[in-house]
Formats: sequence, structure tokens, C-alpha cells
Amino acid sequence: MGAIAGFTMAAAILGCGPPRTLSAVQRGEVVYRTNCASCHNRNPNLPGAIGPAIAGSPRALIEERVMHAAYPAGYHPQRGTHLMRPLPWLAPHIGDLTAYLDSVAVRH
Ligand code: HEC
Repeated sequence: MGAIAGFTMAAAILGCGPPRTLSAVQRGEVVYRTNCASCHNRNPNLPGAIGPAIAGSPRALIEERVMHAAYPAGYHPQRGTHLMRPLPWLAPHIGDLTAYLDSVAVRH
């Protein structure tokens, strides 16, 4: 329910109003804050209430998680739990999420 409300809000921000160009990073930030931050963290470099830190995640991992709540072949998950549900209606925003999560990643 929260995820659907969040998506509606993101769609309203992204889809309506006078034409205005957001970058992929900006779109990804909106999608992340409305759909992921409640479980992960507003700062993707930090673990959240339920999910692990995911800043800098590669596109293949983000795509598998968001579309299927799965993992790419050979990936070793940070957590052994199965709490996350797929959010397949976010398919058009996989690239935006990847761009945002990469842009904020603190590299050590
Ligand atoms: C309901 C809470 C919840 C929501 C909403 C959620 N996640 Fe997750 N996520 C988790 C949990 C918990 C895990 C750890 C595995 C599990 O239990 O499913 C996880 C794991 C992940 C991982 C794998 C981390 C790793 O390296 O092992 C990625 C990437 C990820 N989530 C991305 C996202 C993105 C992007 C969104 C928003 C589009 C999102 N998640 C929304 C709870 C959530």
C-alpha cells in the first residue's frame, strides 16, 4: 500500500505539469525516496529499518531485486532473508534508480 501510494506520488511528480527535464539521477532519487527509503534508508549508504545499504549496486542486481526479488546468478546477498517484495511496475525506472544509487555511493 505504501509502495503504491509512493508510486502514485512519483508518477504525479514525474508525469504531470509543465514540461520540465529531470536528469536520470533526479528521477531515480524521487523513485528511491518514495519506494525504497522506507525499508532501506533515506541515505542509501546506510542500512535502513529493514533492508541493507544499497548505494552503488550494479544495474543487474537492482533489476533482479525490483522485478523479481531475486539475485543475479553468482551474487552473494548481503542478507539471507526474503522480506522484500518485487515492485515490477518500476521497470521503466531501473536505469534511473541505478544512476541515483551510483551517484550517491560513498566509495571507500
Ligand atoms: C518492504 C521493504 C523493502 C522495500 C520497499 C524495498 N526493499 Fe530492497 N531489500 C529489502 C530487504 C529486507 C532486503 C534483504 C533481502 C530480503 O530480505 O529480501 C533487500 C535487498 C535489496 C537489495 C540487495 C542488497 C544486497 O546487496 O544483497 C537491493 C539492490 C535492493 N533491495 C533494492 C531495492 C530498491 C531499488 C527498492 C525500491 C525500488 C527496494 N529495494 C525496496 C527490503 C525492501
